[in-house]
Amino acid sequence: DTGMFTYDPGFTSTASCESKITYIDGDAGVLLYRGYPIEQIAEQGDFLETCYLLLYGELPTFQQHQEFVKSVTYHTMIHEQMNRFYAGFRRDAHPMAIMTGCVGALSAFYHDSTDISDPHQRMIASIRMIAKMPTIAAWAFKYSIGQPFVYPRNDLDFSANFLRMCFSVPCEEYKVNPVLARAMDRIFILHADHEQNASTSTVRLAGSSGANPFACIAAGIACLWGPAHGGANEAALNMLEQIGSADRIPEFIDRAKDKNDPFRLMGFGHRVYKNYDPRARIMQKTCHEVLAELGIKDDPLLEVAMELEKLALHDEYFVEKKLYPNIDFYSGITLRALGFPTTMFTVLFALARTVGWIAQWKEMVEDPSQKIGRPRQLYTGAKRRDYLPSAQRG
Ligand code: SDX
Repeated sequence: DTGMFTYDPGFTSTASCESKITYIDGDAGVLLYRGYPIEQIAEQGDFLETCYLLLYGELPTFQQHQEFVKSVTYHTMIHEQMNRFYAGFRRDAHPMAIMTGCVGALSAFYHDSTDISDPHQRMIASIRMIAKMPTIAAWAFKYSIGQPFVYPRNDLDFSANFLRMCFSVPCEEYKVNPVLARAMDRIFILHADHEQNASTSTVRLAGSSGANPFACIAAGIACLWGPAHGGANEAALNMLEQIGSADRIPEFIDRAKDKNDPFRLMGFGHRVYKNYDPRARIMQKTCHEVLAELGIKDDPLLEVAMELEKLALHDEYFVEKKLYPNIDFYSGITLRALGFPTTMFTVLFALARTVGWIAQWKEMVEDPSQKIGRPRQLYTGAKRRDYLPSAQRG
């Protein structure tokens, strides 16, 4: 007994693929990365160690961890010519638009990691994607606020490097706050992978045609942007601001229950979790830690979020439909407190999810039995009929 198990959903599985990477039990609210509970990894691990685990299937030894960190660190710069890409965007371009464009263009700069049949090139492409996403993301942020780009430094760890690229300015020394860097790292861990969600399935489908990994990740970023998926963290914060105060919550809960009203509680509900999303609990705890570190007492949006959760979880509509907070419910409040505008929230999700996308892409391309994805359909259109010249068309 290898300790491995296959999840039997108890019905004719509509599983799109087999995978050894992430396991979710939606009814129990369980999430395992390569068998390790998300709670333990988020509490005791770090993001690059999690990347190693997702990519290679085992927690790294001390030596392996050191080597992996070094190899990621030495790939954090992007080709200097990519700098010009940013100037081509309008200042008010959504950072996700910039991210999609820049990542899709990476294959134009790194020809030595696009041959997916070469294991070495696959490994380099994986490292490059993980390493360069923080720089691409930070520069998209800097560009949107009209500040100069900040280059990565090799003496900082992954999340501290990212925060410094986002928030340091040439006119003063930037001091990394270790509590905030740890919180950022934990937020990345929570978003790293999540089985066959919409964007991961997009990456797998794109990759099944043999497309290069950079193009596949760009496809995943585009899919994640939607408000029903990764865009929900931005939408959830906008919703909390729209609600504004606890006394208006009942009005919005009623709207969320009204089938004729398109309003949905953003950050609530999940296609798989019919219990509390384990990531949401850890995110709420991280939110409190970040606010405490920043000396923010009684954040009005956190008050609204906690009251909304309390009222919704006691409302029969949400109880009966098993709708609970998901990872996006508390992440927006936390990211805003860290200093990010709402337009950067999904960019941070994409930055973290890159390791999940690339691990799942790698698992698929290394499976000798995999074929190009080709979903079929249930045709409900017109029956066969003969062409009519336009003069005869009524
Ligand atoms: C992510 O797949 C992943 O793993 C995604 C993700 C990841 O890590 O990759 O976890 C990240 O995308 C989290 C989800 C973020 N999205 C949101 O928070 C947006 C708000 N949530 C809803 O849009 C919704 O919950 C979805 C899209 C997430 C799921 O919608 P489904 O597939 O309709 O969910 P369901 O079938 O379980 O819904 C059951 C019922 C439905 O009503 P009926 O058709 O039975 O009458 O509950 C309703 C839904 O309409 N419902 C909601 C609701 N979510 C579902 N009603 C009000 N508010 C909501 N938020």
